[in-house]
Amino acid sequence: MFPILKMEIQTEQAHSMIPNLYQQTAGIYDFVISKEVLENDLEFYLSLIKSGQTVIDIGCGTGRVSLELAKIGCHVTGVDLSEKMLEEFRKKIPSQYADRFELLCCNMNELDLAKKFDWIIFPYRTFQALRNDSERVACLESVRKMMHPLSRVVITLFNPNPGLLKIWGTAEMQGFVDFDVPIPNENFSIRRIASLVDHDIEQQTLGMQFIYQKYDKTGVLEELPDALELGYLYPAQCEEIFLRSGFIIEKAYGSYNFEPIVEGVYQEQVFVLKCE
Ligand SMILES: C[S@@+](CC[C@H](N)C(=O)[O-])C[C@H]1O[C@@H](n2cnc3c(N)ncnc32)[C@H](O)[C@@H]1O
Repeated sequence: MFPILKMEIQTEQAHSMIPNLYQQTAGIYDFVISKEVLENDLEFYLSLIKSGQTVIDIGCGTGRVSLELAKIGCHVTGVDLSEKMLEEFRKKIPSQYADRFELLCCNMNELDLAKKFDWIIFPYRTFQALRNDSERVACLESVRKMMHPLSRVVITLFNPNPGLLKIWGTAEMQGFVDFDVPIPNENFSIRRIASLVDHDIEQQTLGMQFIYQKYDKTGVLEELPDALELGYLYPAQCEEIFLRSGFIIEKAYGSYNFEPIVEGVYQEQVFVLKCE
């Protein structure tokens, strides 16, 4: 288990952060994502999406999924509201594949592209940055406009069944280290100190603040603040909003290993949607 560090996150920086955009942490994002949550997610997308297909990766971040799809010959439009994340993405584009990418800085609920895609994907819980139904419906409406009859959508969210809310949703979650990883080829590690600052059970929203500490054996080298504000939905609520927005659930999985969603179990929710 991780040590409990009672550390209040009260820096001015943490309070002035725009949540969800990784403004100060885009450069370390690739090292600190959860390997556990994302186990087999790349394999999942690569099993569905084929060479030559067109993909819009919404909330593409540093290009973790887009880059793999471009490598197999897909044409990828990456959309993200964070210029910082897109900057990291651009640095990673191999020159031989540069013509397979188009990157756009845009809010996912204000997308208005006169273009259709074979796949519209929201990897790693990106859809959860939308915190209420009107934002979700606005986003899903713009998704529909980008679809042709054979297009498919992949939306992933955490399943707030008891196991997960026990970790994410409890008042005890104040200033504790929720991961600690050595950084490859560097002489330092990064640990994240997380605090739940808001949990609205009625609105189903969570607010988290983080301090990422880079440290080595001499002590803490740098502290980077960050904040997330997420909405969460139970499987039946996802189904309702997808149906209301004109989608049919083609597949629903509880993991990227194609396991079923099981009530009361700590899992992901991975939906493949088509239009009616
Ligand atoms: C958890 S990261 C996922 C990044 C990437 N999809 C991946 O799988 O590694 C969520 C991404 O969504 C972006 N984001 C957050 N809110 C957004 C919004 N309203 N519109 C577009 N992108 C947004 C963030 O900047 C971040 O890059």
